[in-house]
Amino acid sequence: MRAEDAERCAELEIILFPGDGPWPASAFVDELRAPHVRYFVVRDGDGTVAGYAGIALLGNGSGAESEVHTIGVDPDRQRRGIGGALLGAMLAEADRHGGPVFLEVRTDNDPAIEMYTRAGFAVVGTRRRYYQPSGADAYTMTRPAAADEVKGGHP
Ligand SMILES: CC(C)(COP(=O)(O)OP(=O)(O)OC[C@H]1O[C@@H](n2cnc3c(N)ncnc32)[C@H](O)[C@@H]1OP(=O)(O)O)[C@@H](O)C(=O)NCCC(=O)NCCS
Repeated sequence: MRAEDAERCAELEIILFPGDGPWPASAFVDELRAPHVRYFVVRDGDGTVAGYAGIALLGNGSGAESEVHTIGVDPDRQRRGIGGALLGAMLAEADRHGGPVFLEVRTDNDPAIEMYTRAGFAVVGTRRRYYQPSGADAYTMTRPAAADEVKGGHP
């Protein structure tokens, strides 16, 4: 993602997250300036942003963890693999960084919960009234560190 993509991402936020505090363009610009975040976009053939996603890589060593900050796909472009590709790009960064990955998702967001579950995330908690102003609840989901998964698979 480049700073000039911020306006388009903010347009998509209004469509995708009405009532849940959609990010303005300035929030994306601030994120891109932060040192420990990685942002990705998928573009149509004409360069239009069809989907976007960002993750923060936090801590280091045994305290390393990552947190998905946002992911969204243009409603006209959903169910074509874009969300999965963006999530895969973020998880590759997270695995290079090390440690588990965390995220919050609305408890009624079945498409996203399905996508995350298929990527190895599991629900570990519920945050009441996490989203504002809607007051919707969130699940916290986590995916263990890649090294932990390997240990589990090869005792
Ligand atoms: C969640 C979201 C990013 C998925 O993007 P997408 O490009 O449609 O996702 P993909 O086509 O790569 O689908 C990946 C997987 O997610 C799941 N999925 C996606 N949409 C789904 C739906 N409507 N119903 C059930 N499962 C769904 C499926 O498992 C799918 O794999 P499959 O197509 O092989 O069955 C998109 O629906 C979106 O932007 N939603 C609004 C914003 C949002 O809720 N973001 C997450 C905030 S936590």
